[in-house]
Amino acid sequence: MNTTDCIKTRRSIRNYKEDQISQEVLKEVVDLARFAPSWKNTQTARYYVVQDAAVKQNIAENCMMEFAFNTKTLTKAPALVVVAYVEKRSGYERDGSFSTSKEDRWEMFDAGIATQTFCLAAHEKGLGTCIMGIFDEEKIAEAVSLPEGQKVGAVVAIGYPAEEPQAPARKEVEQLVQFL
Ligand SMILES: Cc1cc2nc3c(=O)[nH]c(=O)nc-3n(C[C@H](O)[C@H](O)[C@H](O)COP(=O)(O)O)c2cc1C
Repeated sequence: MNTTDCIKTRRSIRNYKEDQISQEVLKEVVDLARFAPSWKNTQTARYYVVQDAAVKQNIAENCMMEFAFNTKTLTKAPALVVVAYVEKRSGYERDGSFSTSKEDRWEMFDAGIATQTFCLAAHEKGLGTCIMGIFDEEKIAEAVSLPEGQKVGAVVAIGYPAEEPQAPARKEVEQLVQFL
């Protein structure tokens, strides 16, 4: 799959086949995601893959801020990935001060790049993903026993797609770009 096809045909997938994903394939996806750019190459993204049915269901039912749509998606997905990041590196100087006026927001910026790279890599391997932003950060951290010094960036449902959704409408290029 070339880059254009990968970017254009990736969709948020919310219906999955029951097939489990092998750890080998999941490692191949992370192997690609680790080439995402990051602040001073700090590589702060971490991937917590949840395949255990009980842990996954606990997250689906108790950690998604009672947003039933996400509970439903996670219940159908054979796995989910908590994308976390190591705190206080991205956007920081060695002495612990912020490098720029964006302060700690580069942490989530890097987590976002890593998450999209992960999703594109997964798509290339025939997997569907859905990035989720509506979740209870503290409860997710507890559910996956996130180590001290790491924060949850996003929750990603993952599995082999059982649907082929149309791309939601996109803005026109002219609405997005300005040449100066
Ligand atoms: C930061 C972020 C948070 C999102 N949160 C959710 C979510 O909580 N639940 C959900 O079903 N989709 C969520 N989405 C998926 C978007 O709805 C989806 O990307 C958008 O509608 C465009 O569709 P596409 O991904 O198929 O191109 C999220 C996407 C992003 C990037």
